[in-house]
Amino acid sequence: MNQSPNPTVVITGASSGIGRALAFEFAARGYKLGLTARRMEVLEKVREEIRAAHPSSVQRIELQRLDVDATEAVGPALHALFAALGGVDIVVVNAGINNPTFIGKGHLAKEAKIIQTNVIGAIATVDAAVEHFLTRGGGQIVGISSLASLQGIPGQGAYCASKAAISMYLDSARVELRSKNVSVTKILPGFILTDIAPNMHKYPFVVAADKAAREIVTLIERRVRVGIVPSFPWRWLRPLFGHIPDWVWAKMM
Ligand SMILES: NC(=O)c1ccc[n+]([C@@H]2O[C@H](COP(=O)([O-])OP(=O)(O)OC[C@H]3O[C@@H](n4cnc5c(N)ncnc54)[C@H](OP(=O)(O)O)[C@@H]3O)[C@@H](O)[C@H]2O)c1
Repeated sequence: MNQSPNPTVVITGASSGIGRALAFEFAARGYKLGLTARRMEVLEKVREEIRAAHPSSVQRIELQRLDVDATEAVGPALHALFAALGGVDIVVVNAGINNPTFIGKGHLAKEAKIIQTNVIGAIATVDAAVEHFLTRGGGQIVGISSLASLQGIPGQGAYCASKAAISMYLDSARVELRSKNVSVTKILPGFILTDIAPNMHKYPFVVAADKAAREIVTLIERRVRVGIVPSFPWRWLRPLFGHIPDWVWAKMM
């Protein structure tokens, strides 16, 4: 399916961080936008700011409240948004959380919440998007996974497991949907300066969310299978992931 000259993109978790920055970048490139998150008042503000920043290129911006933890409600909420936009070309599965969790320390509920949001919430989003694309004749799923999907990190067991799980789900989806004109792009960010964790500025090679968003949207437009962001230095360091000695990671704890 050929995309329209002003394609439409839906972004989950668009109220802050990477999702918000993606919304600005897509708007600058003339896309129509569907933005979702739980905090509607913040989404309203994001919409106002995008309109003020890009008065000439902004096409249309629809908002939809979406809590991806309410699994049964994800499909109906997204289908309502797809209908309001008159059809959607790209869905960016971005909503996610991270919290330090330590094994054997009574953190099971925190761990279950991370799996619920980052895995079940993301799968529910992919499911609704693909249902829409299959009736429409095609589309593109973009999953925001993480470099943490490739390497176990102390204090991040549930988060790493959640990102490894959604990465594998996206890989399966890519193969399964190949003949259905639905492409799947998996993005593996390194460290991006957002509210997802305290002291993000102290992490190695951290970049601002708007810089990451520029790279991510370019990768989406190229319909890459896997994109690493920021590309420097992580693309070159990626082969080391999974092979870094345990004592190096243990020291970072
Ligand atoms: N920042 C990094 O270094 C980094 C690295 C690798 C991967 N990532 C991934 O990038 C994605 C975005 O993270 P970020 O860094 O931009 O974090 P962020 O600034 O905390 O943004 C997270 C977004 O997800 C939404 N969200 C959280 N729980 C939700 C729920 N239950 N239902 C619906 N929306 C929910 C939040 O909106 P509301 O609170 O308004 O609902 C917010 O818009 C995540 O999947 C994260 O794992 C980030």
